[in-house]
Amino acid sequence: MSQEKWRKRRVGDRELAPETLMMGYGYDPFLSERSLKPPVFHTSTFVFRTAEDGKEFFELAYGLRQKRPNEEPGLIYSRINNPDLEMLEDRLAIWDGAEANLAFASGMAAISTTLWAYARPGAAVVHSGPVYGGTDFLLKRILPQFGVTPIEFAAEGGTKAMEEAVDRARALGPVAALFLETPANPTNGLVDIARAKTLAEGLSGPEGRRAVVIVDNTMLGPLYQTPLAHGADLAVTSLTKYVGGHSDLIAGGCSGTTAALDPIRGMRTILGTMCDPHTGWLLMRSLETLKLRMTASAEGARKVAAFLERHPRVASVWYLGFLPEDHPDRGLFERQCKSAGSTFAFEVKGGEPEAFAVLNRLEVIKLAVSLGGTETLASHPASMTHSDIPPEEQLRLGITPSLIRLSVGIENPDDLVADLDQALKG
Ligand SMILES: Cc1ncc(COP(=O)(O)O)c(C=O)c1O
Repeated sequence: MSQEKWRKRRVGDRELAPETLMMGYGYDPFLSERSLKPPVFHTSTFVFRTAEDGKEFFELAYGLRQKRPNEEPGLIYSRINNPDLEMLEDRLAIWDGAEANLAFASGMAAISTTLWAYARPGAAVVHSGPVYGGTDFLLKRILPQFGVTPIEFAAEGGTKAMEEAVDRARALGPVAALFLETPANPTNGLVDIARAKTLAEGLSGPEGRRAVVIVDNTMLGPLYQTPLAHGADLAVTSLTKYVGGHSDLIAGGCSGTTAALDPIRGMRTILGTMCDPHTGWLLMRSLETLKLRMTASAEGARKVAAFLERHPRVASVWYLGFLPEDHPDRGLFERQCKSAGSTFAFEVKGGEPEAFAVLNRLEVIKLAVSLGGTETLASHPASMTHSDIPPEEQLRLGITPSLIRLSVGIENPDDLVADLDQALKG
């Protein structure tokens, strides 16, 4: 049975939709006792038929020779490759509209391995702000220890702020990457990916490469934003969030061309930051319902945001679906995003005590960090996910003490509204 049969992306003249392909793309049941679903390949290593096979597989995996036409990379060792990860990566690449994907042990593993692969001592990384607290720590506290300079611009400052940051970085020397988190966690600030691409085209990076554009697509990806289609070289995603979708695993992904992923693949093999087979299997199961879940939670979020917008104890709601016509991000939102998604923040009137009082009164909505799961979660970015960022910097980035982040799940949205209503009344 040819492998190609299980990688069909068309029926007749019709190109199959990603949600259809998630039911089995890349899996041949006849290689696994006709089992409808792929088994979990719980193995650290794979047996070679002959020593010559082993030699060939290593040559390809370690880049010692080019892949022959139609050659499938041979399985070697689960830090290098594993059937569950290969199937998962093929399916994630479909959603991201990418040539290939690499799966990682966490979103941070994907982000850090990607940056290790491209950054070099003496180079700068231009990045938007705010970014997720862990990414912020990596960029501002860890990479500088290795001679990499972070140059931040506020997503709120628009294209002008990004251009100025690029000019500052260029004056210092090579620019390894433009790292954008858009929409930003937790403010939903947007950054223009297409503009970043044109800026990167004129920027030399280390070792004769041009600067690469890396987009953290966690907040809307993969359903509602496709950074590669807007010019990004690489799209990183915390699969812990919407893709995993059930708050029961930690994983990450990075999509791009095979060539752009090559140095990252090599770095992943050596750092050992790959996803494990069991998590890979769980993610494939989650991918079957991804579209249903993301659609339901986006619909619910719209209802919840509409309720909060009208509430007298709410000072502001940062939901992308309600950007006024004259808002500077409105055009970019319509160009770059397919939906407002279901994670957004709102400010209560008052400060931290008022925000904490609302959080402590919630009965249905759980008080927990993370986002993108089936259940609705509420958190306080200033004292939780972004607490590593000094208070004055938090304020500059829009992370105020009265800000509450909501990740709306797939419960009945009227129940969520009732819960928020009683929590806000106090
Ligand atoms: C936007 C964003 N990027 C990256 C991460 C890190 O992902 P992980 O927790 O899977 O390492 C998070 C986690 O909250 C996030 O919100």
